[in-house]
Amino acid sequence: MIRLRDVQKSYAAGTGRVVACAVSQLDIAAGEQVALVGRSGSGKTTLLHILAGILRPDHGEVEVAGARLDQLGEAACDRHRGRHIGMVYQTFNLLQPFTALENVLLGALFGRGAGHAMRDRAAALLAEVGLGDRLHHRPKQLSVGQVQRVAICRALINDPELILMDEPLGNQDRTTGEQVLDLLLRLAAAGGKTVVMVTHDPASAARMQRTVDLATLRAAP
Ligand SMILES: Nc1ncnc2c1ncn2[C@@H]1O[C@H](COP(=O)(O)OP(=O)(O)OP(=O)(O)O)[C@@H](O)[C@H]1O
Ligand SMILES: [Mg+2]
Repeated sequence: MIRLRDVQKSYAAGTGRVVACAVSQLDIAAGEQVALVGRSGSGKTTLLHILAGILRPDHGEVEVAGARLDQLGEAACDRHRGRHIGMVYQTFNLLQPFTALENVLLGALFGRGAGHAMRDRAAALLAEVGLGDRLHHRPKQLSVGQVQRVAICRALINDPELILMDEPLGNQDRTTGEQVLDLLLRLAAAGGKTVVMVTHDPASAARMQRTVDLATLRAAP
């Protein structure tokens, strides 16, 4: 599902450059559930954005869900993401003028289309994460943890084969976090989906099949 070789992303900083993310080799099989860990600033978000085709690396091979993202243009990457990938951003990226239900449906607009069946599916997903009574609230009328759960539903609405999540449970209490992770892992296992989840929580990481530490990906194996 994922195959990276000699990937690097750097940014100009003063007279030099700072390497935001470097991965010598990373392979993740279809259906694997992987926890991505590493210190703050080690490049976890940068790596997820490369996998989603939002960021293009300076060099290296990026194969994700059957496409070589390093060889596709921006529009093709966007289409590929809409069809194959569900992403939960670290900063959620919900659209403020729209309700929870509409934000989830907006995810479908770029994937399978937002008809009546999708509206029911969006409402059902929101109910599953405990937001059945918040369908028509806007992001500003929701708590941070609730916004985070809306973002998770938006990532799942297209039933993507690859789910990328940037600390999706960072603002949940333990019980809610466990319930949402249970739901995610249940959906993933039932659908044979691949999950890459950034987490700082050892208990969450332990629920995944494998843990990948970004610090170990820099050097050749
Ligand atoms: N647009 C940018 N311009 C310059 N430097 C950047 C940019 N984006 C990220 N960086 C740098 O790249 C490094 C990796 O950032 P990244 O956001 O991927 O870290 P992270 O592992 O997700 O951290 P955290 O756990 O705090 O979310 C950081 O040192 C950051 O300062
Ligand atoms: Mg980050």
